Amino acid sequence: MLERRRFLQLGTLGLSALSFSGFKSNSETRKPIVISTWGEGIAANKAAWNILRVGGRALDAVEQGVMVTESSLNCCVGLGANPDRDGYVTLDSCIMDENANCGSVAFLERIKHPVSVARRVMEKTPHVMLVGSGAQQFALAQGFPLESAELSESAKKAYENWLIKSEYKPVINIENSKNQTAFAPNKLENGKWNHDTIGMVAMDANGNLSGSCTTSGMGFKMRGRLGDSPIIGAGLFVDNEIGAATATGQGEDVIRICGSHLVVELMRQGLSPENACKKAVERIIKIKGTSAKDIQVGFIAINKKGEYGGYCIQKGFDFAVCYADDKNFMIPGKFLI
Ligand code: GLY
Repeated sequence: MLERRRFLQLGTLGLSALSFSGFKSNSETRKPIVISTWGEGIAANKAAWNILRVGGRALDAVEQGVMVTESSLNCCVGLGANPDRDGYVTLDSCIMDENANCGSVAFLERIKHPVSVARRVMEKTPHVMLVGSGAQQFALAQGFPLESAELSESAKKAYENWLIKSEYKPVINIENSKNQTAFAPNKLENGKWNHDTIGMVAMDANGNLSGSCTTSGMGFKMRGRLGDSPIIGAGLFVDNEIGAATATGQGEDVIRICGSHLVVELMRQGLSPENACKKAVERIIKIKGTSAKDIQVGFIAINKKGEYGGYCIQKGFDFAVCYADDKNFMIPGKFLI
């Protein structure tokens, strides 16, 4: 109703202003729109919105959006993030467009923007996925600079702290302090709980969908470990007829259910984005049983109407939604346990 009133108030501004103000241009569709995981999503959405608001492509928006997070040196994602248990930061990322084109890199070291390398894999190679030294070699050949191998200050401290016990405890993305006390090194100095992934999905003014996902993976993971984030269908999936979904949290459990693909398929069956995310979370909980309380997984999704939603296993996950210059806000993920 509010949106309808605003539509009428702004009627004199003309159609181009309407289509980029992010409210429903007709009673069916809200576009453009971008949503992304966690609090970092606000800054990432802003960058994505700057592309979407002037009629840019969703693919460019989801790349530029998560690059903001990858650039942050005091964040969960990118070269400033926590290393693996051997002290190396390894990055995973993927991207997918409205034509089911997709690209991915995994176990990539010393490259600042894995999402952009993933896009090059998509656009410049006949492949979908490059990993490790081959991915780095490709990135360098494409002109991406080789960055320092030094850990960021916050990651160095967290790693030194972790080395005291060197306890391999694959617990991530739980911003619930009760469950995180055993994983104190993962707490940043500013008191904010750490996590490691940003996933973003967007629909542009033309109604085309794209998505991106980028991560440093689980902090202090085994060297060589990959999670869901670089895996199309697990960490990210886009079907331009239906919708797009992305995941965050313990990647192993997202992979087990092909999480993002499952969410999109549930939307195909008629579920709203929120209910599709909920069903996917329920499936993980069913598999994990009582141990589900020890992990976090969150999904977010949008559909072709510009409806959005998210769901997670337990309290603490939130996501950022942006569909107008003055509408970029956080939503607490509903949770099941
Ligand atoms: N979802 C990020 C990971 O498990 O690596």
